[in-house]
Amino acid sequence: MSQEATLSFDGNEYKIPVITGTENEKALDIGKLRASSGGLITIDPGFKNTGSTKSAITFLDGEKGILRYRGYPIEQLAEKSSFLEVAYLLIEGELPSKSELDLFKQNITHHTLIHEDMKRFYEAYPSKAHPMGVLASMVNVLSTFYPESQNPNRTEEDVDLTIIRLLAKLPTIAAWAYKNSIGHPVMYPKNKLGYCENFLHMMFGMPTEDFEADPVVVAALEKLLILHADHEQNCSASAVRLVGSSQANLYSSIAAGVAALWGPLHGGANQAVIEMLDKIKADGGNVAKWVEKAKDKNDSFRLMGFGHRVYKNFDPRARIIKKACDDILSKLGVNDPVLDIAKQLEEVALKDEYFVARKLYPNVDFYSGIIYRALGIPTDMFTVMFALGRLPGWIAQWKEMTENKEPIGRPRQVYVGANERNY
Ligand code: SDX
Repeated sequence: MSQEATLSFDGNEYKIPVITGTENEKALDIGKLRASSGGLITIDPGFKNTGSTKSAITFLDGEKGILRYRGYPIEQLAEKSSFLEVAYLLIEGELPSKSELDLFKQNITHHTLIHEDMKRFYEAYPSKAHPMGVLASMVNVLSTFYPESQNPNRTEEDVDLTIIRLLAKLPTIAAWAYKNSIGHPVMYPKNKLGYCENFLHMMFGMPTEDFEADPVVVAALEKLLILHADHEQNCSASAVRLVGSSQANLYSSIAAGVAALWGPLHGGANQAVIEMLDKIKADGGNVAKWVEKAKDKNDSFRLMGFGHRVYKNFDPRARIIKKACDDILSKLGVNDPVLDIAKQLEEVALKDEYFVARKLYPNVDFYSGIIYRALGIPTDMFTVMFALGRLPGWIAQWKEMTENKEPIGRPRQVYVGANERNY
């Protein structure tokens, strides 16, 4: 039964259709509002109350702390699935059969090399280049090596090949950015290794000796990548969809997602959390003092890793990562003093009226940096790890937007500048 809302304004009434999603979410469809009301539009900076699309990829319920990829609860996928199986699920919409997954893995394995000419770009970066800056540009560079991907009338096979190339080459591009930053020779991927093992081999292997990835580290990385794989219409996914809506190629759309993710309010928060915890530790570990600073409107300091646009309850990913943190650090025999500071910070904040009133809880970035550090990942690579995880989600969002032939994104505005005046 279709529902509708009535908007009354300035002596007129406008009927607005209401759509209902499969989880009973309701939305006012204002697609015809401007035309039917003589120019009325809505305005919502940050899109806090505005849906940009109807999507079948990820469902989250911020109040209940629910996150599902294509209907499967994140807790089950994190426990039982693998990153490439989850990537397939997000992109194709269904879990792969064994033969489908084997073919997917085989295709990815055989596209992990990047063109040798791409090495010249690494030589051009300053040695201390932030790897997210390298990643965003190198993903765009991929589009110049595969010009057929720029054809708006690309076939489904072209898109599938581009998807395989991105999933296969991003770990290589990321690991080589790290090797380049420490002046080490790059490590080439090995086809006999799995996705996570291959990445760790390229990150920490050396041409002078054999490298064996610790199975505990491989399993931890698998779980972290699954937890980061998609998150519906977050800032970076929206950037991917908006750029892709102009029929820009998938590489450039993903590069836009990498750039958006870099911000400290978004994926860059995992690096900012560790820097914050290190600062609190260096300051003597006075957690209460820093919680007060986070509450002080005159102090720009925020509790990084806390708060979320959608979750007004615990971020389910933070719950899983916090538990994994204890397991992994004890298995690896790592004792990281900032873990205790993080737990104290969480305890104090969750009892503090300021955080309780604003429903600010730890988000996915609060504990992930502690695990990455325990795995030996350098701090300025943390957001790169987030991008590696989020890649299948960005691809799925771009694919859904293009397959649904959504119109080019072009928001309206309310002009508040100077009225007409003569020169
Ligand atoms: C990610 O969207 C996604 O799904 C993102 C993500 C994904 O998977 O893609 O989940 C990944 O980006 C997680 C978020 C990582 N960012 C951080 O941890 C940075 C710290 N958090 C905040 O900057 C903030 O909470 C945001 C950016 C996450 C959300 O900001 P909103 O929704 O715009 O909320 P807001 O800034 O309007 O804050 C509401 C109130 C404000 O106080 P009042 O003006 O009402 O008095 O809460 C306060 C804020 O000052 N507040 C904080 C705070 N976060 C919000 N105060 C102190 N510390 C914080 N961390």
